[in-house]
Amino acid sequence: MNKPEVLVLHEPVVGRSLPHESAHLHVSGAAPYTDDLPEPAGTLHAALGLSPIAHGRLTGLDVARLRQQPGVVAVLTAADIPAENNCGPLVHDDPILADGELRYVGQPVFAIIATDRDAARRAASLAKQVIQAEPLPAVLTALDAHAAGQYAVPPMHMTRGDPAAQLAAAPHRLQGTWRLGGQEQFYLEGQISLAVPQEGGDGLLVHCSTQHPSEMQQLLGHALGWSANRVAVQCRRMGGGFGGKESQSALFACVAAIAALKLKKPVKLRVDRDDDFLITGRRHGFDYRWDVGFDDDGRLLAADVDLISNAGHSADLSAPVMARALCHFDNAYWLPHVALHGYSAKTNTQSNTAFRGFGGPQGALAVEVILDGIARRLRLDPAEVRRRNFYAPGKDMTPYGQRVEELHAQALTAQLLASSRYDERRAEIAAFNAASPVLKKGLAFTPVKFGISFNVVHLNQAGALVHVYTDGSVLVNHGGTEMGQGLNTKVAQVVAHELGLPLGAVRCSATDTSKVANTSATAASTGSDLNGKAAQDAARKIKARLTTFAAERFGCAPALVAFEAGQVCGGGQSVPFKELVAAAYLQRVQLWSDGFYTTPGLHWDRTTLQGHPFYYYAWGGAVCEALVDTLTGESRITRADLLHDVGTSLNPALDIGQVEGGFIQGMGWLTMEELVWHPKTGLLTTHAPSTYKIPTANDCPTEFHTALFGTPNASETIHRSKAVGEPPLLLGFAALLAVKDACAAGGPEGCDPPLHAPATAEAVLNAIDAVRA
Ligand code: MTE
Ligand code: MOS
Repeated sequence: MNKPEVLVLHEPVVGRSLPHESAHLHVSGAAPYTDDLPEPAGTLHAALGLSPIAHGRLTGLDVARLRQQPGVVAVLTAADIPAENNCGPLVHDDPILADGELRYVGQPVFAIIATDRDAARRAASLAKQVIQAEPLPAVLTALDAHAAGQYAVPPMHMTRGDPAAQLAAAPHRLQGTWRLGGQEQFYLEGQISLAVPQEGGDGLLVHCSTQHPSEMQQLLGHALGWSANRVAVQCRRMGGGFGGKESQSALFACVAAIAALKLKKPVKLRVDRDDDFLITGRRHGFDYRWDVGFDDDGRLLAADVDLISNAGHSADLSAPVMARALCHFDNAYWLPHVALHGYSAKTNTQSNTAFRGFGGPQGALAVEVILDGIARRLRLDPAEVRRRNFYAPGKDMTPYGQRVEELHAQALTAQLLASSRYDERRAEIAAFNAASPVLKKGLAFTPVKFGISFNVVHLNQAGALVHVYTDGSVLVNHGGTEMGQGLNTKVAQVVAHELGLPLGAVRCSATDTSKVANTSATAASTGSDLNGKAAQDAARKIKARLTTFAAERFGCAPALVAFEAGQVCGGGQSVPFKELVAAAYLQRVQLWSDGFYTTPGLHWDRTTLQGHPFYYYAWGGAVCEALVDTLTGESRITRADLLHDVGTSLNPALDIGQVEGGFIQGMGWLTMEELVWHPKTGLLTTHAPSTYKIPTANDCPTEFHTALFGTPNASETIHRSKAVGEPPLLLGFAALLAVKDACAAGGPEGCDPPLHAPATAEAVLNAIDAVRA
């Protein structure tokens, strides 16, 4: 397989569209994922027996019957957990295996360990027959839990100014409720862990598909009652994570590990797709209630908003998800008087978790729907109403007290509306709709402002190790994980740039808790910001030592030594990097280094929800056109124009991939992916691709234009780039609002279709019926 070695050496390695380091392996099916690792001899396989009821008291389990099933080696229950029965990341309220209480349909109650996976799964499927339980009343919806005051974490309130008085004084008021569905991560590689005892059972190595190896190590230690130095967690790559493997890979790692140590054999736990859906949580669905005041021009004067998330049965990451939702309700808009109330409702469903955007999308979409409603009420163009509300000089303070320093919304929007011919197409679409009684078109523009950094200050740190070997080749290890986003490629580019090498000279190795310690999750889009800087720091330390060495050898000042195109030069001389390195080794120069980075200037008070939680913001905008069949409710996005801010791109090809992928994922969430829990039993009925529809290549907009907004980051980030992992998901808002615009064209002038998300065919028909009634 060719590594991208065919570089012209003097071309810069940073800022270029270089292929993903594993692209050739991805497309040929040769990239090894956890399940592809060779299984050590004697590997056993686990499967989980799941609760058949939404809420109840566990009164018994017929373990004997399970033990008799063919191939079964052991049955584990909560009693087999050596130390703490918890896999919750922040609040210790998340049992690995049910202990006494059954909390949702799909909760793991026992684990079968068998000689092969099929045998394990067959035995586990007897769950309904072997679990004895006394049912208890279940709370299945967030609104029911909210009405009962039942929360997974305490409610949060973010306020500024005097919203009550300003609402009362506002020339116009809009009150409403709205419902937004959740979203399954649908990583192509499901949850998986392979636990291998080491040192006669005194140590443990876990291969885990996870965004957060360090947290896995910690939670494994707690469950086993072991110190962290006995546990190593490794991940070379994931087949997607999308937030779903931030905390929720822990349950699988813990079960595999507990079984492996008990049986003194390697144990693999790979859940199938249906079980993955039933066991793990996903993006929080939200319900909203709002009361907003605005002036004749559509400027928001005051907002009082309840945001109610469905947290599921435990806390998981629901508190930081809600904090991010509240910090993104403003999106790109100046909101002088606000009262935002965040309630994380506790229900008898899967525990919801991180998903690309981490609550940010659920916060920002609310204000977009509100502005759309205001524009319709005033019969103004929604894009114009948005522009009037943008943050601007003097109107640049967020509700959480951070000033917005880069004000890109106006310029980016002007560029996008021009390149997408927004105004002309608005007129063309009106003409089309006037002549088309059944098919209706809609158009929508939405902006994005997304805060970059973890809202929890201490998480904004990263470490890296860079090894230069005596042959001049370089190995990089950093704390981030590769899930397809191209993090390893970007970090390798950064290191290659520092050492003046072609990318082919630098490789990244698997993420491993025994190499870089105490890492943060690869999340909040911070992967390349944090790990790129840490790796740069390590490379610079090596470069400094080599510079001193070269300056002596060349007899020139250190400032004159340069690393370029695989050569080191100075004082009129030039030697290949690998020759200099070999010579430096003989002179006992340290050729490897660690590196460390912390994001500067952050502070956050999580009791008052005030501070400076974000290092900077990423901006973007989307214009979407939708075509809706008003008889069937079917819709499609016929054109999308995306303009997204990645600062100075480290790698435009990877960034465009993230922008398009994020947009499609957001579009899928809002227009087609629907989660349905049975209203009586609480079973998630949409637990496979047969019933849960994610977008395919065929759903891509027929006409699809993507461009990067090429302004360097004003903050001093790695090569002035910006994080790109999550923000583009919010570009998908325009898809939903374009469908809504088409629905409005099916009703009377000035109507506001009550279209909930996802805008499935059924939801579209309901919305059209409502405006026609
Ligand atoms: N892209 C791919 N291909 N696969 C993924 O799982 N996860 C997203 C985003 N892009 C994801 C992805 C999420 S949720 C985050 S937080 C970021 O990537 C994490 O990586 P980064 O910080 O390196 O951008
Ligand atoms: Mo991403 S939701 O922060 O893993």
